[in-house]
This record gives sequence, structure tokens and C-alpha cells, in this order.
Amino acid sequence: MRSHWSHKLFLKLGRRPPLNWLLLCFVSVLALIVILASPSSNTVDSVPSSSIPDIYKNYRRIKQQAASDYLEITSLSLGISHPRELDLCSKERENYVPCYNVSANLFAGFHDGEEFDRHCEASRSGPRCLVRPPKDYKIPLRWPAGRDVIWSGNVKITKDQFLSSGSMTKRLMLLEENQIAFHSEDGMNIGGVKDYSRQIAEMIGLGSDSEFIQAGVRTILDIGCGFGSFGAHLLSLNVMTICIAAYEVFGSQVQLSLERGLPAMIGNFISRQLPYPALSFDMVHCAQCGIIWDEKDGAFLIEVDRVLKPGGYFVLTSPTRKSQGGSLDAKKTISFTPIEEFTQKICWSLLGQQDETFIWQKTTDVHCYLSRKQDGVPPLCKGDYDAQSYYEPLLSCISGTTSKRWVPIQKRSSGSQLSSVELAIHGVHLEDFSEDSQFWASALRNYWSLLTPLIFSDHPKRPGDEDPLPPFNMIRNVMDMNANYGGLNAAFLEENKSVWVMNVVPVNTPNTLPLILDRGFAGVLHDWCEPFPTYPRTYDMLHANGLLSHIINSECDISNLLLEMDRILRPEGWVVLCDKLHVIEKTRALVTQVRWEARVIQLQNDNDRLLLVCQKPFLKK
Ligand SMILES: *[C@@H]1O[C@H](CO)[C@@H](O)[C@H](O)[C@H]1NC(C)=O
Ligand SMILES: *[C@@H]1O[C@H](CO)[C@@H](O)[C@H](O)[C@H]1NC(C)=O
Repeated sequence: MRSHWSHKLFLKLGRRPPLNWLLLCFVSVLALIVILASPSSNTVDSVPSSSIPDIYKNYRRIKQQAASDYLEITSLSLGISHPRELDLCSKERENYVPCYNVSANLFAGFHDGEEFDRHCEASRSGPRCLVRPPKDYKIPLRWPAGRDVIWSGNVKITKDQFLSSGSMTKRLMLLEENQIAFHSEDGMNIGGVKDYSRQIAEMIGLGSDSEFIQAGVRTILDIGCGFGSFGAHLLSLNVMTICIAAYEVFGSQVQLSLERGLPAMIGNFISRQLPYPALSFDMVHCAQCGIIWDEKDGAFLIEVDRVLKPGGYFVLTSPTRKSQGGSLDAKKTISFTPIEEFTQKICWSLLGQQDETFIWQKTTDVHCYLSRKQDGVPPLCKGDYDAQSYYEPLLSCISGTTSKRWVPIQKRSSGSQLSSVELAIHGVHLEDFSEDSQFWASALRNYWSLLTPLIFSDHPKRPGDEDPLPPFNMIRNVMDMNANYGGLNAAFLEENKSVWVMNVVPVNTPNTLPLILDRGFAGVLHDWCEPFPTYPRTYDMLHANGLLSHIINSECDISNLLLEMDRILRPEGWVVLCDKLHVIEKTRALVTQVRWEARVIQLQNDNDRLLLVCQKPFLKK
């Protein structure tokens, strides 16, 4: 299972150098090889690696590869493939998120709120250019300091949003001229996030919020998360909280959460389902999230029911409930009655109400639905399926009841390593799963050793030199663009890396998203022919194993995918692509367009595939 890695190329292929320059480089590469060859000519290949990353030990293959590299270099210099470097976009596109152009959506005929939905088909694709960082952009602070303090120049926010102290989850403060601080850990505040979290725990019958995990609450979907402070607190208790909120031009909840290193994505369910399968989350939370829950004949509540696991909780905090006397407040209170009536029809039980917070629990008993015969009770969906769905309309029926995944959250095992019974539900064998886990544990160790600017140096480390510093906490937001079982995520956890992973399952591949979510990981279904619903500069690392060969066989274009990856990647962020030989060769040539530093790495035990490691530069102009 252990694989060794070696440099394939010594030369940066970023620009188009003249032929004689290339030849000069080739000669110096040979010279370097001569220098390096002797100390590494012993049996490095068979020495199991300990702390020293394999890549820096293994120079032997370079000699054999020099010849083939020379051929590649010549072919490049002959102009076989020379995509031009793209220009930076105009300043207006600094925070560009495709598919959310309201005026274009209105023009295309969407209305009744649907103009705020995601409509990629309505937005014409703009100029092909690289989204530039704002003028005073700074590399975010490292985790965990960056969770509580961000650079104000990195996000788009108005002066008013700065100064207003806002709701509990939205409290922020201008620290210095160029920093914003979040006061999530301020227990002194009445109504602080910690108190709020404890209150929720008590309302569902727990002693404190540190018991969430034991009670089966591992994953929470936080709709309209403020600036993520509730999620930040829950993450410290190992509860995976994913924020979704609508696209916002200023003071975006999603942009600020991601800037803080907290899981978030743009998402709304005005007319279409969320991109998650049925029975996905242990808790859905909405604190003043702006959704009018009793609209559309309860379709929004049915959608919450769909994504909730059996026995899961819906927490709703809304100030309109506050009755301080007076006719206006009484009226507002009454508007909650339809919600309460509807929740009974869909077999939720009200666990409690305290101040402005309501908590309902979804039933664990499928028969409950059949016993309700009043008017307006939503029927069970026919032909229940966990099939791959994307852009499906909101339902008016109850789903998930015939799923094999109908398992109450209180009865589930708590780790991310699923039992063989749980795996069987997903049609996965324990051996395959274990093999996958081992593969990723080993792959991650190798990746990690590659994530250093040193690999782009023309003078790689010599044997005996100090090891390069691993990127400890420089990487926080990771996206696995083709996540399969979530193996990379699991490996990160085992290595105690302080990252979270957005596990993306591409459409038209085996739908492993239910498995990923059942492991307690963040995940989403996505069509990589379209832009990802996130703001620019939100991920530190993008990883894709086998995605490119999937894209190359589809109708969409790898160079557009690279452009989109560049948009969502932070400056100095990393890309790790693993794929078939010819696909990596093609991609490496295209990487020139997005101006990434790139290096091809050969996998020792795998002659059919290559690794392409890239870093996005911090372009200022
Ligand atoms: C949004 O769409 C309008 C109308 O099609 C267009 O003029 C405008 O440039 C678009 N905005 C962006 C940011 O693409
Ligand atoms: C990760 O942390 C756990 C608990 O602190 C520890 O037992 C384990 O050895 C650590 N793993 C690694 C690879 O450092």
C-alpha cells in the first residue's frame, strides 16, 4: 500500500522560455543529477519511510527520467501546446460568484423569490479572466487565531454591518482599522453563543452541550448562520456544523464563515431541494434565518423533514415570538400557529419552548405518518429513493420512510468508522472500506510532505538536509472534489490535522454522499460542469482524485474547471490532482493559463497515473 514519490520534472513549465534557455536548464539538471546521484544510489526505494518524506529521499529515478523530460521540453518549445496566460478580471469581479445574477434571472423570467435562486443557465459566462484579490487582501491568519480575527479587506462588508452589533450569532467588532473580531467565546454576554448552545442541550434533555455527540447529534445544518459563531462553538465540541445561506452581495454569512475557517456554502431552498439526500442531518438550526416557514403549504418544513434523520431535531429561534403584550406582538405570535399545526401533521413533537427558541423532534416511527388522517397531512412519497438528485423541485410529500438509512440518531454508532452493518446499508464491503482508509492514510502523509514551496524549487533538498516544515495550520478549508467514501477526510482526522473537508460527490458518479454524511462529514452533490456555490478565495486546498478523467469524458471543459478552481482557491492555496497519465499531461499544459506553479510527481507503484501538485500565486496585478 505504501507508495513512494519522486520528482518527474525539474523545470518549471510556467512560461515559454526560448529553446537555448531550455537546453541550458537541461544541462544544469543533468549536473544536478550528477551531484545528487551518488548519495541516493543505495536502496532508497526499499527503505520504508519514517519521518523523512519519501519525495526528498528518492532521487534515483530522476536520472532515468531526464531523457523523457527532455522530449517533453522540446515538444513544448516547438509550440505544441502553449495556452496563453489569462489576464486578471476587473475590480468589479473581486467577489464574483457565478449563477447568482438577480437582474439576469429576472430578465430570464424568474420571479416570486426564485430570482434569488441559483440559475447558472441564465447568467451568460463572462470574460475568461482570473478573479483578482481586493487591493488590501492579506493571507488569513492561521487557525485557530483566524477563527476569531479576520482581515476586513478580505471580505465585502459595509460600514453599517461593521458597526452594528447585531444578533447573537452575528456579533462582530471592529478591532483595529483593518481587522474584524468575533466574540463567540464571550460567556459573559447574556444570550451569548455558549449559553444558547447549553440552553438547546437542556431543552432536548441533556446535562450540557458537551453531551451532544453521545445523544447522536454529530452533524448540524445551520441555515442562515449569522457569521458562524454558533458553528464555531459546536465545532469545538466536535459537532460538524455546516452553514448554508443565500447569496449576499455585502456582509455574506457564507463568505465570513469561510474566511474564519468554518464550513459553509451558498444554498437556499426557495423552489428547489437542498443538494443533500434524504436523512442527512441530526439537527437543523435556524436562528432568525429569514425563512417564512408557514409559506408554500409547509413545503419548507417538509424540506427540513426530508434532510433530518429520524429522531433528529429542528431548532427555530425567532424574535417574533416574543410577546411583550400589545396587539402587534399578539398578531406575530398567532402567525406561529400554522407552523405548530403543520409540525404535528408531519409527526414532529414539540420538545420545548423557551424564550424565543422552539425545538421539535422528528419521529423515529414510520407508522406515525400512516396514523395521521386529518386534512392537509402530506402523503408519503411514492417510490422512495436515495437516488442522485440535483435541482429537484421542493416536495409536498414525506420522503425517506422506506430507506434502509431510516435509523434513529440515538441508535447509531458514534465514530466515523462505520460498522459492517452500517456499511452494508450503503452496499459497501468492510474490506473495501478498510483498504480505502489505509490507502488514504498513506496518501495523505505523502501529500502533506509535498505541500511546501520547496517542491517548486530547482534545487530540491539534498539528502541529510533538514526536512521542510510541513504546512501545519496554514491549511484549514479543504475541498475533496471527488470524495468517494470521504477517505481523505477520515485520514485528516486520524492525523489530527486542524482542517475540515467539503466532500463533493460529482453528479454522474456513484452516489456515495449518503455514506459520507453518515460518517458525520460535510458533503454535497455537485455538477463540476457548473461553478461551485461559494465565494472567491474560500479554500486552502483543492484535491481531486480521478475527477479530471471524468470531466474529460463529459461535455465540459477542463480549462473552465481550472478557472473555477482558481476562483475559489485562496492565494498561496494548493491543488493536488491525481489522474491518468495523459489527462495529467494535458492538464499540466492548461495550468499555464491560470498561472499556477505546477509540478508533476510520479507515483512509484502506479505507472498509469500521475500526481500534479500546484500552488496558486498571490497575484497583485
Ligand atoms: C448580470 O446580468 C446583467 C444582465 O444580463 C449584466 O448586464 C451584468 O453584467 C451581470 N453582472 C455580472 C456581475 O455578471
Ligand atoms: C491524534 O490525537 C489522539 C488523541 O489526542 C492521539 O491518541 C493520536 O495518537 C493522535 N494521532 C496522531 C497521528 O498524532
